[in-house]
Amino acid sequence: MTDSPYEHHQYDVLIIGAGGAGLRAAIEAKQRGLKVGIITKSLLGKAHTVMAEGGMAAAMGNVYSEDNWMVHFRDTMRGGKMLNNYRMAELHAKEAPDRVWELEQWGALFDRTTDGKILQRDFGGHRYARLAHVGDRTGLELIRTLQQKVVSMGTDVFMECKVLKLVHDDDGRVAGCVAYWRPSGEFVTFEAKAVIIATGGAGKSWKFTSNSWEGTGDGHAMALWAGAQLIDMECIQFHPTGMVWPLSVRGLLVTEGVRGDGGVLRNSEGQRFMFNYVADMFRAETADSEDEADKWYDDHSAGRRPPELLPRDEVARAINTEVKAGRGSPHGGVFLDIGSRRSAEFIRRRLPSMYHQFMELAGVDITTESMEIGPTCHYIMGGVKVDAETAATRVAGLFAAGEAAGGMHGANRLGGNSLSDLIVFGKRAGEGAAAYVESGEAARGFNMGEVDEAVREALEPFEREHGENPYDVQRDLQEMMQANVGIIRTGSELDNALVQLDGFTERVKNLAVKGGRAYNPGWNLATDLPSMLTVSRTTALGASDRKESRGGHTRDDFPKADPEFGKFNLAHSSNGGNWDSPITTDRAPLLAIPEELKALLEEAK
Ligand code: FUM
Repeated sequence: MTDSPYEHHQYDVLIIGAGGAGLRAAIEAKQRGLKVGIITKSLLGKAHTVMAEGGMAAAMGNVYSEDNWMVHFRDTMRGGKMLNNYRMAELHAKEAPDRVWELEQWGALFDRTTDGKILQRDFGGHRYARLAHVGDRTGLELIRTLQQKVVSMGTDVFMECKVLKLVHDDDGRVAGCVAYWRPSGEFVTFEAKAVIIATGGAGKSWKFTSNSWEGTGDGHAMALWAGAQLIDMECIQFHPTGMVWPLSVRGLLVTEGVRGDGGVLRNSEGQRFMFNYVADMFRAETADSEDEADKWYDDHSAGRRPPELLPRDEVARAINTEVKAGRGSPHGGVFLDIGSRRSAEFIRRRLPSMYHQFMELAGVDITTESMEIGPTCHYIMGGVKVDAETAATRVAGLFAAGEAAGGMHGANRLGGNSLSDLIVFGKRAGEGAAAYVESGEAARGFNMGEVDEAVREALEPFEREHGENPYDVQRDLQEMMQANVGIIRTGSELDNALVQLDGFTERVKNLAVKGGRAYNPGWNLATDLPSMLTVSRTTALGASDRKESRGGHTRDDFPKADPEFGKFNLAHSSNGGNWDSPITTDRAPLLAIPEELKALLEEAK
């Protein structure tokens, strides 16, 4: 037992993050008889997972029997602009249906077809209606189901516990972490044979985001500092439809399910402008008239897809262009209309949260009025580089799954592929970590020097009489990232961002907070800012290096995809392991796709 001066816990498998991936990983490791602990800096049940509202994609073929894993794999790779780890996309497409049926066995109450199967809805970039859903509250149902299972299995859950850093043993294997309790500010150490990072995303580095306060990229950052690599960090998903008004809720998600269920986008001239933005790659399968597009909703073989259901990167860029051209809505977005196209009963039944959200927050009745929407930072495709089969990173004892892991979605994620990613790779991470623990190769020892250093750094802001307010630094960082590393980027903006990030590093070194450690939100933010800076820097570095446009990375000065850049991921490593250590970027070649899978992708072109 390690001699820690702090409250100390020991686990076989420690999971950081209690969203869908973390909970699913916990179930798997627990089923193998291991001692499992879960840490969340928030509360159990409150995770960004709930913001995947419209459904989880799985080729179950319940609505279109033509659907199968091969079509899902093809759609995912094409949506990701072929930057994906093909093996992750393959495993995901093959395993998602079983993971959904398993959820049903564990109590998830999905909407139903008339003959009693799990109902599936349309989403952008998926050839067939493929999203198993529970109205527009699917993420919530997923969390509720997994949470119930985890609790019933007797897993330990530590809430309101902020992890500062991972801790190694003397041989460089991950051996646990150091954290503090938000309610008391007291430090705590967790020793573990394997650690799974499942901390979700990093949207809080941008001004307008669907992410809640937790989305500060802690897992991305601590994995990098611990020796893992981060890939594709420049690929950020701006979900096309976030609320733009009232300002207090700007960025709040409006589910893609609105468009999946027949909603259309219009500009201030009433034009269904998406018809003007169909890229060559999607032209053959996209309708070129409103009549044809509308027929498709009733029968997918009767017409081609509506352009509103192009992948998210295409739709977000189109909205951005319309607003810039002066054809936006009064509050700087465009209009999303479902009220004139579907009955009030249909809308309230299929989209109950959207109905209430607009009624309560904006005084808009979406059954009769259009919504004002615009892009919002929703998801980071980039993340910790992992092995597809086991979710292992290059650091012994460290695993990652869900949004914190990279590779699965390439340069752009299709809507609905996130919830299924969580359950497919959450399970695999749980298995991978359990197998590692059982191998007997796990860490021996726990480096208290690393703990002392992390505690010292965390307490520094209390020692400064005069320094920067963390909230000022956070606000300025969000504005800078939104302006310079947003939907459309230029080389000069990115150069400017990198210079400014050096300035932010100095500002974070000079943070000052007052008061005690118990429930001190200023201090809590001061301990989040290093992660936010690490994520911002790797995103800006990747965006500056990637001199092309691909998926969730658009360069005004390099508007086309460059086949050379389609051969590798940009992989970042930390030189020193601290939040302000230099970061180096390498080109990591993509896995070679086997011929039989290549044939599937060729067929699809
Ligand atoms: O629009 C949505 O409901 C979000 C889904 C997702 O991000 O997968």
